[in-house]
Amino acid sequence: MATQSEIWTQKYFPEKEGEIVGNPSAVKRINEFLASYRRKTSKDKAIVLVGPPGTGKTAAVYVLATKYNFDLFEINASDVRNQAKIKRIVGTAAMKKSIKGNLGTIILVDEVDGISGMQDRGGIGALIKIIKDTRNPIILTANDLSDQKFSTLKRNVQQVKFKSIQKNTISKTLKKICKQENIEHDDRVLMQISENAKGDLRAAINDLQSVAEGKSSLSIDDLENLHQIRDEEKTLFEALRVIFKEQNVRTIQKILWQVDLSTRDFGLLMQRINELIPEHMHEPEEIAAAYRALSNADIIWGRIQRKAEKSIWKLFPYFSLELSAGVSLARTKSPYHFVNYYSIFPRFFFQNLSKLRRGDMASIGAKIRNKLQIGISKAVAEYLPFLSMIYQHNPEMAKRIGAYFNFDKKEDQFIKSFWK
Ligand SMILES: Nc1ncnc2c1ncn2[C@@H]1O[C@H](COP(=O)(O)OP(=O)(O)O)[C@@H](O)[C@H]1O
Ligand SMILES: [Mg+2]
Repeated sequence: MATQSEIWTQKYFPEKEGEIVGNPSAVKRINEFLASYRRKTSKDKAIVLVGPPGTGKTAAVYVLATKYNFDLFEINASDVRNQAKIKRIVGTAAMKKSIKGNLGTIILVDEVDGISGMQDRGGIGALIKIIKDTRNPIILTANDLSDQKFSTLKRNVQQVKFKSIQKNTISKTLKKICKQENIEHDDRVLMQISENAKGDLRAAINDLQSVAEGKSSLSIDDLENLHQIRDEEKTLFEALRVIFKEQNVRTIQKILWQVDLSTRDFGLLMQRINELIPEHMHEPEEIAAAYRALSNADIIWGRIQRKAEKSIWKLFPYFSLELSAGVSLARTKSPYHFVNYYSIFPRFFFQNLSKLRRGDMASIGAKIRNKLQIGISKAVAEYLPFLSMIYQHNPEMAKRIGAYFNFDKKEDQFIKSFWK
């Protein structure tokens, strides 16, 4: 059971150099960098791996660190400015050397262009200072450094380019996974998934998991599911982007009307907002204000769900006002920056969403909410998977829980099969 719900991109994270596919010359460059660092002949103290998401940048760093017997220490890009903290981290890292007998510690600053702390030149200046000050080899990764603000960084640090992975290569990797998972398949299906992924191996593996997990064979029909998932994802991601980017209440309210009311996507929307607030906002007062608005929205949404169909429309403007004026306008200081939602949220998550449509998710969520006094989105996101596990493994306890929440037979069945 536990292995089934493991995320495949983690399960199949490369362990050896031979398992990194594509980009041989980039991998060679990292090899040279680390080898010369070990021989203490390196001219460069840092390199930056640049390329689209899901091409193995982070994976290559992990694999090669092990190969050259380096420890690896990750610094969050948002910590770069905190020089005292960095000193502490780097200091600890240097001490570890003598404990483990390793040759030193690589400092990894992953996705310097993606997360907080780098919105302006100050963050980048701090990063360059760290590179100049430390004795450790530093590896940065980035999706895109074309913005003008990265020009100083590019002058100081050698770039190693990663290209998107070719679809034949992706398809071969998927084939290996299918073999390990004992899934019979039509090669055309794997080719189709590979083509869809547009060079992003992480996306391809996530897609494969979302259509194939738990199956013994995979056919072209199973891809239907994937297209459906994609459409849902698109609307949701578009709404999220508008909420975090636009500062115009009407624009945001308009996009919210496009999220399909009947499908109860709002629980999921709020959950995503919940996860994205810290990605888009960095000042404590902004974050606090955004969460306050989100929890108001959640309360209103709970009321909407408890009422009859008609009154939904009456309360909806308050709900959308919290998400627009409330969440969006909470961002008063942090500048907007692009966040790649596709790479943050693994696609297989959405499989549960389509399951959710078929079953009577809402009634279950409402029953949990009534007992525990929590928002329906929280009920679904945090309790349902857990209940599902109990239902599968401990029928005795499941019985008692079912009685407590007053679930009927159909709901019991749904909960049991929810988390696979
Ligand atoms: N070149 C690759 N070789 C093997 N696996 C890869 C490769 N690129 C991506 N993956 C798979 O996709 C996941 C994400 O890769 P990652 O190294 O984090 O990509 P990036 O850092 O370029 O966004 C990994 O867990 C791994 O399963
Ligand atoms: Mg990465």
